Amino acid sequence: MSNSSDLKDKINEVIQSLKVKNQYRTLTKISSHGPTISIDGKSYVSFASNDYLGLSIDKEVIQQAQKIFLDFGIGSGSSRLVSGNHNLYEELESSIANFKNSEGCLVFGSGYLANLGLIQSLMGSDDLILLDRLSHNSLFSAAKLTKSTLKIFEHNSLTSLSNRLEKYRKNYRNCLVVTESVFSMDGDLSPYDHLQEICRQYNATLMIDDAHGLGVINNGKGASFGQALPSNVILTGTLSKAIGSYGGYVCANTSVIDLLTNKANTLIYSTSLPPFVIAAANLSLKKIRENVAIVKTLSEKIDLFKQSIGIDSDSAIFPFKFNDEQDAINASDHLKEYGFFVPAIRPPTVPKNSSRLRFSLSAIHDDHSLKRCAEVLLDYVS
Ligand SMILES: Cc1ncc(COP(=O)(O)O)c(C=O)c1O
Repeated sequence: MSNSSDLKDKINEVIQSLKVKNQYRTLTKISSHGPTISIDGKSYVSFASNDYLGLSIDKEVIQQAQKIFLDFGIGSGSSRLVSGNHNLYEELESSIANFKNSEGCLVFGSGYLANLGLIQSLMGSDDLILLDRLSHNSLFSAAKLTKSTLKIFEHNSLTSLSNRLEKYRKNYRNCLVVTESVFSMDGDLSPYDHLQEICRQYNATLMIDDAHGLGVINNGKGASFGQALPSNVILTGTLSKAIGSYGGYVCANTSVIDLLTNKANTLIYSTSLPPFVIAAANLSLKKIRENVAIVKTLSEKIDLFKQSIGIDSDSAIFPFKFNDEQDAINASDHLKEYGFFVPAIRPPTVPKNSSRLRFSLSAIHDDHSLKRCAEVLLDYVS
């Protein structure tokens, strides 16, 4: 049998197996503006986007982006280290560093690339990485790219982390403990301040992925220690969720930033962000810092949805669990009939037997849609 027919067989097997498990995915063709999306000419209120503050369609942000692309064009042409570092980067990086009380900041092409670049640069063959069991795919993938030893600790468990550190830490040169401020599929918060204390006791570094925290928790500040970022903490995040633009970042001390500038493959060997995207992120961040009203509006929407759906959440993410894949798909289809687009999240994005609907709220959702969508779902499951 030829190699190409082997590959064809393998692809067929993989696709068939996904279909049997109700885990097969297709791309849905949509056009969208804020929380309203259109599929095949029909409008839906979407709960699928992480544009938590509606900044992706903010008029002033759009105008700013428009001005910059008229001035500087669309693409950036090359990597930051090759074609030069657009001066808009400096403004954005110092603004993020300042907001996060961090010594330094480095912007990457996306949050995924920031996570890969950081972990790949920092960790080597004589190091240990401890990951929360429910960490995002980018964090697992990043850890697997290194030659470090990888261990899992139980989700948000201080005891489990302490036990792993007690057992393994002494055998390795450096140790990186990885968590998220807000977990992307469950919406729960990590006890990152306690994790940091434990890390300090064991001379470990804590990495917190703040992708779903910035703009949402702690009055929009995201993961925060009140004062300066502790010396054993590194934050990563994205510019594509509450910031409404595109890109990612790492906040750390200047020696880590220096290392990343020299060693992070995803920074060095990938084209930098288009200037208008950086400018949009910059203005959105300014709005989050200066306009507490948008963050407060999101909190009010979260409170209203909590009451309507009867689920507690400290973030803008609400999981409604069905466990079985097909049950989650059926519920999603049912909501669609009523004009609501709520994706069914299935393995491997979430662990086996924990398929769910994932509601992602935005400050620009209207109250009626929030209440009505919850009502339709509760009627369906009762
Ligand atoms: C926790 C977490 N980290 C990182 C990312 C990746 O961010 P980006 O979309 O900017 O690549 C995501 C996005 O899905 C995420 O949920």
